Amino acid sequence: MAILITGGAGFIGSHTCVEMLEAGKEIVVIDNYANSSPKACERVKAITGKDFPYIECDIRDEEKLNKVFASYKIDAVVHFAGLKAVGESCVKPVEYYDNNVGGTLTLLKAMKSAGVKTMIFSSSATVYGGENPVPFKEDMKIGGTTNPYGTTKLFIENILTDLCKADKDWSVSLLRYFNPIGAHESGMIGEAPNGTPNNLMPYIAQVAVGKLKQLSVYGNDYNTPDGTGVRDYIHVVDLAKGHVFACNRALSVKGCEIYNLGTGRGVSVLDLIKAFESANGIKIPYVVVPRRPGDIDVSYADVSKALNVLGWKTEKSAEDACRDSWNWQKNNPNGYDN
Ligand code: NAD
Ligand code: UFG
Repeated sequence: MAILITGGAGFIGSHTCVEMLEAGKEIVVIDNYANSSPKACERVKAITGKDFPYIECDIRDEEKLNKVFASYKIDAVVHFAGLKAVGESCVKPVEYYDNNVGGTLTLLKAMKSAGVKTMIFSSSATVYGGENPVPFKEDMKIGGTTNPYGTTKLFIENILTDLCKADKDWSVSLLRYFNPIGAHESGMIGEAPNGTPNNLMPYIAQVAVGKLKQLSVYGNDYNTPDGTGVRDYIHVVDLAKGHVFACNRALSVKGCEIYNLGTGRGVSVLDLIKAFESANGIKIPYVVVPRRPGDIDVSYADVSKALNVLGWKTEKSAEDACRDSWNWQKNNPNGYDN
């Protein structure tokens, strides 16, 4: 009885492996290491003192997936594997649709052959588009994604929804993540982006460690209290714990359910810079530059459904996340390549 974790060597996946193991679950990880290192799995073992198999496997390789399902007794799949760089997806849309949508379809076929019909899927707040009022609620209309990456999430949500309509034995949890930041408090696992980071927190952390000179704040003319973009930054350990709750629920209830995983609080770019400075005593130099295309002004979650149905809520603050991000960054300035 094990949980298969696709993309388990990645940022959110590795933290979820820790929380699954701490919750007493057996896990099997598959990853093609397109954006990660198998070292993350070794570090998960060191943190938890627990063993598990991790296998190099692309989710588009049906034959290999079939072998994985034949080798282990899998109850549910927590599906993180995917490409996630918004800018890159605009340059390589076919690769993104192939990897994310095509990969998910292949995975679903292998699951069907193995008789495994429970999936927890990593969706994104990006599916709410730019038209909905905040806070975003699970029953709001979705669509209006502004890049191929976001559209892959929308397509996969639709595929999984249709699957649950067609076959009542399936159990699917669509988890819409807001903005994951932070790292495990051990400083042994964390976010290790390739090249210059696109996301705010890893950029701040690399400015702090001296790899980058200053942060560019993308616009201070948004309709927000200080003019900079507002997001719902969730500590990755809280997010990882949400998967344990969602998985337990999906293993006991059939059908497709959607949950926002966020804090319910909006934090501006300048607020996050201040939180990082006060948590770590490091000044972050920044300059305000024009808006980044495709960005919306405000995004934060209504988190009442996750609390009421799953019994899950976040426990950590933005300061905790800033401290833990910095602890990871300063101990691993080159990610897993040290
Ligand atoms: P990540 O890149 O660190 O992890 C994704 C993992 O999937 C990587 O280890 C990568 O090597 C692996 N992978 C990619 N394609 C694969 C394939 N074809 N076969 C096997 N493995 C493959 O990213 P993350 O931040 O941990 O994100 C995990 C999931 O959550 C992704 O699906 C992402 O789109 C989604 N998500 C992330 C965010 C975020 O801000 N980090 C927000 C919303 C949703
Ligand atoms: N920002 C800056 N400077 C930077 C990077 C970001 O000012 O160098 C600002 C952005 O303009 C935005 C905020 O910081 O206002 C957060 O930006 P991120 O790139 O960290 O996150 P996004 O909200 O743009 O996107 C993230 C994920 C997407 C996901 C989306 C919704 O990267 O994959 O959240 O879940 F789709």
